Amino acid sequence: MATKPSNGIKTVGLAPNLQSGFYGQDIISVRQFTRENLAHLFKVADEMRAVTKRVGSTDLLKGFVLAVLFYEPSTRTSSSFVAAMSRLGGSVIPINEVKFSSVTKGESLPDTIRTLESYADLIVLRHPEVGASQVAAEYARKPIINAGDGVGEHPTQALLDLYTIESELGTIDGLHVAMVGDLRYGRTVHSLARLLCLYDVRMTFVSPEILRLPLDVMNEVKDAGRPVRETYDVHDVISDLDVLYVTRVQRERFADQSQYESVADYYVVDPELMSKAKERMVVMHPLPRTNEISYAIDSDPRAAYFRQMENGLYIRMALLAAVLGKA
Ligand code: NCD
Repeated sequence: MATKPSNGIKTVGLAPNLQSGFYGQDIISVRQFTRENLAHLFKVADEMRAVTKRVGSTDLLKGFVLAVLFYEPSTRTSSSFVAAMSRLGGSVIPINEVKFSSVTKGESLPDTIRTLESYADLIVLRHPEVGASQVAAEYARKPIINAGDGVGEHPTQALLDLYTIESELGTIDGLHVAMVGDLRYGRTVHSLARLLCLYDVRMTFVSPEILRLPLDVMNEVKDAGRPVRETYDVHDVISDLDVLYVTRVQRERFADQSQYESVADYYVVDPELMSKAKERMVVMHPLPRTNEISYAIDSDPRAAYFRQMENGLYIRMALLAAVLGKA
């Protein structure tokens, strides 16, 4: 089964498809992606959507095993990886509750990774510490996919976010994207802002002072030559936006809960705000939402967050197939 490529590996049977550039690779950060491999992945995701809608599943990854190891809560990311692998005919070892695994007995991350790679071809990891996926990747002989490393990155979410923007608006170049909310702790924002640097976009970051985008991410965006703006009030830009990317305030990341309370309801996307937005624009959210998007928006055709969530399935099917050399 799949191992990281090394010189001298002889291929028996069907040669792995190397077109995506992802075969045998760890997926740790969006910095690894190029416009070319994203275009390829999005094309495969379109095919995955068509296959899923038409026949439900295929046997492209029959015989492969995926381990899904989550040290933090998740609904969408973990279940979409499980569904993606299942719909491609592969099998899954799901470890969502590390408290029922040997982690509670004090097993280290490297040892847990070594264990799972003895049984699986690929490991999807979510962990509360920044850099945990990188550490895991250094120990692992099999590919690691970062499904969120604390307040660091969430590269597969950024893939589905970008895929959603392109599916909804037909392009990425030329757009004005605002990211609103917890830009400090929101790892999906850190990944998406970096990924958007590959395109000709304008970005506006909207947050209260204490939740501003970290300086390192801001500097990357500026170094990429993208026009950026920061503001406290989404009303400053709403009428000019193509994408309004809303995030939840990450309660679990605050050491001081009173500080959380002070910003928890800082902004709400409601019909009044949407009345000022363009007719052709999209509202996105990685979900879960708390109070930051009113339920009254759900029936607005510009509300793309449920379609975005579904896209996570197709993009993860495409990524699994690419890393295992089948797309
Ligand atoms: C996000 C995450 O886990 O970072 N959720 C997700 O993966 N869809 C966003 C969040 O938890 O707010």
